[in-house]
Amino acid sequence: MDDMNIIDDRVARLTLDEKVALTMGSDMWHTGAVQRIDVPAMTITDGPHGLRAMRPSADDASILEPVPATCFPTASALASSWDVELAGRVAAAIAAEARAAGVAVVLGPGLNIKRSPLCGRNFEYFSEDPLLGGRLAGAMVRGLQENGVGACLKHFVANNQETDRHRVDAIIDDRTLREIYLAGFETAVAESSPWLVMCSYNVVNGEPAASHHWLLTQVLRDEWGFDGVVVSDWGAVRDRVASLAAGLDLEMPPHHGTSDVAVVAAVEDGSLDEGLLDVAADRLLRLLERTRQTGAAPSTYDVDEHHELARAAARRSAVLLRNDDGLLPLTLRSGSTLAVVGELARTPRCQGGGSSQVPATRVDSVLDEVRALVPDLVEVTFAPGYGVDPEGEDGDDTDALVAQAVAIAAEADVVVVVAGLTDGDETEGRDRTHLDLRAGQLQLLAALGQLDVPVVVVVVAGSAIALPQIDPHADALLYAWLGGQGGGRAIADLLLGRASPSGCLAETLPRRMEDVPSYLSFPGEESRVHHSERMFVGYRGFDARNLDVAYPFGHGLTYTTFAHDDLTVEVTGLEADGDLAVRVSVTVTNTGDRAGTEVVQVYVGDLQASAARPVRELRDFRVVTLAAGESERVTCHLDRRAFTFWSVLLHDWYLEAGTFDIAVGASSRDLRHTTTVTLDAPDRRPLRTDSTLDEWADHPVGNAVLREAYEAADGWGGIVDNAPLRVMMGGVPVDRLAMFPGLGLPPEAIADAVEEAARRREHN
Ligand code: BGC
Repeated sequence: MDDMNIIDDRVARLTLDEKVALTMGSDMWHTGAVQRIDVPAMTITDGPHGLRAMRPSADDASILEPVPATCFPTASALASSWDVELAGRVAAAIAAEARAAGVAVVLGPGLNIKRSPLCGRNFEYFSEDPLLGGRLAGAMVRGLQENGVGACLKHFVANNQETDRHRVDAIIDDRTLREIYLAGFETAVAESSPWLVMCSYNVVNGEPAASHHWLLTQVLRDEWGFDGVVVSDWGAVRDRVASLAAGLDLEMPPHHGTSDVAVVAAVEDGSLDEGLLDVAADRLLRLLERTRQTGAAPSTYDVDEHHELARAAARRSAVLLRNDDGLLPLTLRSGSTLAVVGELARTPRCQGGGSSQVPATRVDSVLDEVRALVPDLVEVTFAPGYGVDPEGEDGDDTDALVAQAVAIAAEADVVVVVAGLTDGDETEGRDRTHLDLRAGQLQLLAALGQLDVPVVVVVVAGSAIALPQIDPHADALLYAWLGGQGGGRAIADLLLGRASPSGCLAETLPRRMEDVPSYLSFPGEESRVHHSERMFVGYRGFDARNLDVAYPFGHGLTYTTFAHDDLTVEVTGLEADGDLAVRVSVTVTNTGDRAGTEVVQVYVGDLQASAARPVRELRDFRVVTLAAGESERVTCHLDRRAFTFWSVLLHDWYLEAGTFDIAVGASSRDLRHTTTVTLDAPDRRPLRTDSTLDEWADHPVGNAVLREAYEAADGWGGIVDNAPLRVMMGGVPVDRLAMFPGLGLPPEAIADAVEEAARRREHN
């Protein structure tokens, strides 16, 4: 197959069986080797927030034991940093650990869209916004690959829930798929050229992702230029022959005795072109070349240094949601008492359950770190307040646990409550059914809220929880996510002012489930889930319905304040010439008395779209760190894509001429300045015989062509300008107008007009 570009001449030397073996994996975590021509196996292990590798035990090689690894903040935490440079550094550290363990490919990052806060794996995903998720994923891919380790974007695509994930058919219209669910992958592929993409388990619009030719070949490779290996999610392949034909190169783990037999038989009976297998084998060989550094240069790494990086990343990830009267950072005079409450302060939960679990090298607890860092002569007391049994509530113990916590809190000058989800609440394989904390924790918070002592609530959870139940009892609220093994120290640093919070929400925290755009259709039923809220996911949906939220997308406070001034927007180039570029600049000033970090967010809205569009969409952002009193001119860049929508009619991104809102701010609901920009663009909508009178009349070339057609046909062209008649008849396709005596045009005249309009548009 000439057009398939086989670049490795070793493919020609492989037998059919060897090609099949190479593209199937040999066991759970290794690709197939072909010793005859010195093709080694590759080790592939899980990520994405640390390495999850297994190695034979020193005592008994038949027993595999986990390799200790640094557990970095999970994706929902890291995403809250909005910091691509940090994501890259974390990934580079994971790469070093992978190389030390002889691992060639790390299965991550995961960048599925948070369609619902209930998705059990949200802690492993970045955001509800594809731009933010795509950029962070791209940064992680680069961080891994620039250090010799393959990255694998997963799960492609629309794996937005755990319920029935192996079978569910995600029914999503093309526009929504393009603008929301594919867009993050597209950004990450463009920015980082991942060496692998993992298909998801689910079905997409009737076809399993594992055998979806349109997704795996047309979109991923032909449109986006992906040149790596498509690997199955573990066990996603249902029909290996169909998957190969669709563009899935590597089946993991291998179904020996089934898949290999089927592929050989299909090649032999001619139903599968052997050229397709050659291409897959070639891609595997190329992946081996790309990762050869891994085998060649095993590295060591400094466990303590990586622990420090994990702490730094966790510090950047926590989001300060509220800070009444500047309660934080805590000012603890000597002789004062700080009560720390919550089992999660003593027994840290740093990651979620499932395939991403990392055997951490060590784990900081909030309690130990607070004790280590408080000034001399400050007493730290502790009560667990609730239990963390993954199976459920504390039962009869609840009242006693709460009473004990209230007793120490009543004696303290300030209380820090660490509350959150437990492993039983959020894990791969199961979605949550509600946003609530366990009843025991809510009872505890309510009781503490009654005291006359300031209460700081620290939330440890990998996904959104309901805050309206907590807010009334808290004076300050720090959302720490699942901060990885350094999370305990990071929280202590932030509480005590050794660092300032700088995270911003990468997902909306809703007031209640009923407000969530996907509420009525998540997680579907009978193995079908209709994405009926379309592209109105997350803030796009809350904003479109103007609903209150607990805390909006992009929100995050710090210990200083920032002003945004002098917004300017500069347009250069033209859509028609393909060089349109828009620069948005704003001066950011740290107006407080401490250094701090601000995330400047740029949103675009289309005021006059012919298609339904979100009120605003994040189109660029910059992270700036400024000393007290310091200012910086920050510039964001928007390209044409920032203004387009996916037109199903044109099957393309369409920039529709008109006026757009450009808003700059510190969250999607804290827009400090809004301006408009008017962009010129050719009207690309085709005129057809069944285009309506309005579509013809409003079209820059169509209007004139239609008048001329009426004149030539001696028809009553006055209808084009007759406003009252247009109200009634404007929506009638012109070929149907032909049926109205006196108004119509002969069919030939309409056909000629269509041609003439197309010709003039070409020459415009
Ligand atoms: C998960 C993937 C993971 C794979 C291997 C699957 O169940 O969906 O994310 O990489 O297992 O552990």
